[in-house]
Amino acid sequence: MNLFNVYPLYDVTPVKALNCNVWDENGTEYLDLYGGHGVISVGHSHPDYVSKVTEQLNNIGFYSNAIQNPLQKELAKKLGEISNCEDYELFLCNSGAEANENALKVASFHTGKSRVVSFKNSFHGRTSAAVAVTDNKKINAPINKQQVATFLPLNNIELVENELKKGDVCAVIIEGIQGVGGLDEGTPEFFQDLEMVCKKYGVVLILDEIQSGYGRTGKFFAFQYHGIHPDIITTAKGMGNGFPIGGVLISQKFEASFGLLGTTFGGNHLACAAAISVLVIIEKEKLMVNASAVSTYFQEQIKIIPQVKNIKGKGLMTGIEFDFEVGELRKKLIYNHHIFTGGAMNKNLLRILPPLTVTTDQIDQFIKALKQEL
Ligand SMILES: Cc1ncc(COP(=O)(O)O)c(C=O)c1O
Repeated sequence: MNLFNVYPLYDVTPVKALNCNVWDENGTEYLDLYGGHGVISVGHSHPDYVSKVTEQLNNIGFYSNAIQNPLQKELAKKLGEISNCEDYELFLCNSGAEANENALKVASFHTGKSRVVSFKNSFHGRTSAAVAVTDNKKINAPINKQQVATFLPLNNIELVENELKKGDVCAVIIEGIQGVGGLDEGTPEFFQDLEMVCKKYGVVLILDEIQSGYGRTGKFFAFQYHGIHPDIITTAKGMGNGFPIGGVLISQKFEASFGLLGTTFGGNHLACAAAISVLVIIEKEKLMVNASAVSTYFQEQIKIIPQVKNIKGKGLMTGIEFDFEVGELRKKLIYNHHIFTGGAMNKNLLRILPPLTVTTDQIDQFIKALKQEL
């Protein structure tokens, strides 16, 4: 059987990985500054993580949600403490799209409404309403006709308020920092106004922190730069360091009831063991501090390169913008210098999402390669 061919792939086959490096079948070493769309938070195959996941697998790698799984409670407690979100409740699932779907369900059940407001160039996964990379018609179509999204420009609170006034909106969903679309973000004032208008019209504010969360920006969640308190926060990617797991952090004002949400695999023992290990490592190795420090160095080095037109994002969620499309540059970085980087819907943007363990030496390695190719 052939694979249903929906991804363009580079001709590299990694067989081994450690921290920020991967090796292909010929033993060639690569520097991974993209972490498979930002999922590698604590570094590839971190020894503590490998031993925790292996121990769990040898113990009980078991899936069932009809029995007690103390690891879920341990994960919720640890996540609440580290993220400073102890006043939320946690629903566990398997991916970012699933986290957003569940967040939208909670909002829709709570308000009895179904329309969603989202933002141009946002990306919330292959979800029924919240796929909003508006320039790309192929993935723009809402699948579920009952739940339709309206896409507005970022940073225009009047337009948001005009939509909310109509009375049929259940949720506004926004990324802490836009990932796939190209690292645009709301201003602090916009986020604060958004919180205010959502409260005013009884609309649920969902912060999609699937890419911008888990310490990547130097704070646990990117919205924490803006002093707001969203109703729901969604997370995935870095949460399991590659092991599929997603989470919905739900404000206590939403009442849980049996059957409201559900999942077969979500919060299984192995996923919880992986996610607990990630949090332990983030804390023990002070990886949020590292993300801030290395990103400050990174930005200083990048901004003196004359061909760089703009630097976007925060922390280790960085976009380097040029006045040309970066497709060829990315190929040269992979094949000539063995460095993985990412692209975005903004084709002039190089997207860098390294493990939070990345070092300044590795940044130097990238800068040297980039300068050579430019
Ligand atoms: C902000 C954001 N939300 C949701 C998703 C979807 O996550 P997943 O691919 O795990 O379904 C992504 C994936 O890139 C994302 O960047």
